[in-house]
Amino acid sequence: MAEARLVNGRAEAAIAPEDRGLAYGDGLFETVAIADGRPRLWDEHMDRLLEGARRLGLPEPPLATLHEEGHALAREASGGVLKVYYTRGVGDGRGYRPPDRPEPTRVVSRHELPAIPRERWEGVDCRLCRIRLSAQPALAGVKHINRLEQVLARSEWQDPAVAEGLMLDPEGAIVEGTATNFLAVRGRALVTPALASAGVAGVMRRWVLAQAEALGLRVERRGIHPEELPEMDEAFLTNSLIGLWPVRSVAGHQIPVGPISRRYLARMAEQRLTPLLGQADGGHGP
Ligand SMILES: Cc1ncc(COP(=O)(O)O)c(C=O)c1O
Repeated sequence: MAEARLVNGRAEAAIAPEDRGLAYGDGLFETVAIADGRPRLWDEHMDRLLEGARRLGLPEPPLATLHEEGHALAREASGGVLKVYYTRGVGDGRGYRPPDRPEPTRVVSRHELPAIPRERWEGVDCRLCRIRLSAQPALAGVKHINRLEQVLARSEWQDPAVAEGLMLDPEGAIVEGTATNFLAVRGRALVTPALASAGVAGVMRRWVLAQAEALGLRVERRGIHPEELPEMDEAFLTNSLIGLWPVRSVAGHQIPVGPISRRYLARMAEQRLTPLLGQADGGHGP
């Protein structure tokens, strides 16, 4: 599958070096799984983009155009990844102050799926990152382009046996992984950080929470301190590409891989949520 991209609808166009997305991280992005030629959870991704634009004071994204472009690029691929960028566009030389009439830049691009070891869907080992997420309620939940905290956190380890690093808030409670959301099961409660002052409100997390009731689970939105992990029956990580990875250890402390993770994985596979899931034998991976 060839990579492809559209910048403001044009295949040959490039992004200006003065684009505020590049200069200041002044914009939003979405990473969308393509399965069977269709972008998955598209409406949920667009809901988050719309809400992010509202929070940052960006003009409303052109949803019909993005739908057309995203679906056209996906149609040519059985599986893969779509990225959507939506920035405040080229600045007008006034520094940080946003232009009075911004002309946003939109980029829709298609990429190969990353190669991920199949065992990850049977359970992953995680570490606790040293760098913490700062508290910023004005940006919490938004998938903005500023990802330096995640870049620093992901630089902390090279060991491929460690699949993900969990990031803590200033009080020491788990917020999420560097590129995933974190959820845990305790009895009939599905516990996940509230994301009120840090973190990205993941599209796959939203899907998982929406299914909770059907699985007999009650949702609790609250921080989870690492010391509480031994009390958890299960824990897992989610994002739009992987679907879900059960967590089997955090910083060397074991957590069982249990039935709730497996039931969610089976539902994700049934619904073809990502091309990384869904082989009939229950095996997964690219
Ligand atoms: C920091 C961070 N948190 C959470 C997520 C999960 O979001 P989603 O489920 O929308 O892919 C991501 C996805 O890349 C992320 O980068």
